[in-house]
Amino acid sequence: MKVTIFGGTGRTGKPLIERALQQGMDVTVFARPSTPFANPRVRVVRGDLLDRDSLTEAIRGADAVLSALGPTKFRHPKDQPITRATDAMISVMKQEGIRRFICISTGTARDPHDGFDWKIHLPARLIKVMMPAVYRDIVGLAAAVRASQLEWTMVRVAFLNDRPATTALNVGVYGRTRHTIAISREDVAQFMLDQISSREFIRKTPGISAK
Ligand SMILES: NC(=O)c1ccc[n+]([C@@H]2O[C@H](COP(=O)([O-])OP(=O)(O)OC[C@H]3O[C@@H](n4cnc5c(N)ncnc54)[C@H](OP(=O)(O)O)[C@@H]3O)[C@@H](O)[C@H]2O)c1
Repeated sequence: MKVTIFGGTGRTGKPLIERALQQGMDVTVFARPSTPFANPRVRVVRGDLLDRDSLTEAIRGADAVLSALGPTKFRHPKDQPITRATDAMISVMKQEGIRRFICISTGTARDPHDGFDWKIHLPARLIKVMMPAVYRDIVGLAAAVRASQLEWTMVRVAFLNDRPATTALNVGVYGRTRHTIAISREDVAQFMLDQISSREFIRKTPGISAK
């Protein structure tokens, strides 16, 4: 199984890579030129997230593309870098005939099937008001993925932590599933990898949280 991982340089990217390797996967990590990253057990492709040649080099031959890219800083650029990068990745996946795409999203990007959950609604409102650039990029990313013809899954999370994996998760759309607000990055990574061989959440946006 060959996987290409975006966002592998981040804190969720780390367990994503480690768990993929433990499961015997052949891993390519796309990293921006100035981001420190080294791992002799993976193939690393460096480039700008909008550079088609670099993206093609990273994505060609993959069975699935996983992305943990996302805005996490208060001062996020206004020009929607994650949305534009995701658009570019989707375009190259289409060019290469690769269909399975699994990425991280949040409750801020609502699903039409969501009900109301104040634990999700309140942070989403705060992000919209206090971090408009982050908000636009979260919503833009989700719109780009939905508009694609890919077999996508958006794994939605609230607050991430670095606790050990529990594997006892709440899974389902917000407002219709009993959720807590936190989940470990280890659990997110494993859930994403589990989706590669599952069709349960194709074109769905499951929220996941720790029990
Ligand atoms: N932290 C939370 O509590 C939380 C809550 C809800 C959702 N999420 C989402 O969960 C995912 C993982 O979170 P994390 O805490 O593990 O993230 P993280 O450690 O901050 O890593 C974020 C990743 O996104 C990339 N990235 C961030 N800003 C970028 C930009 N402007 N242009 C290009 N790439 C950029 C980073 O690339 P570089 O290393 O090259 O900078 C890195 O690979 C993200 O999608 C985040 O939005 C996180």
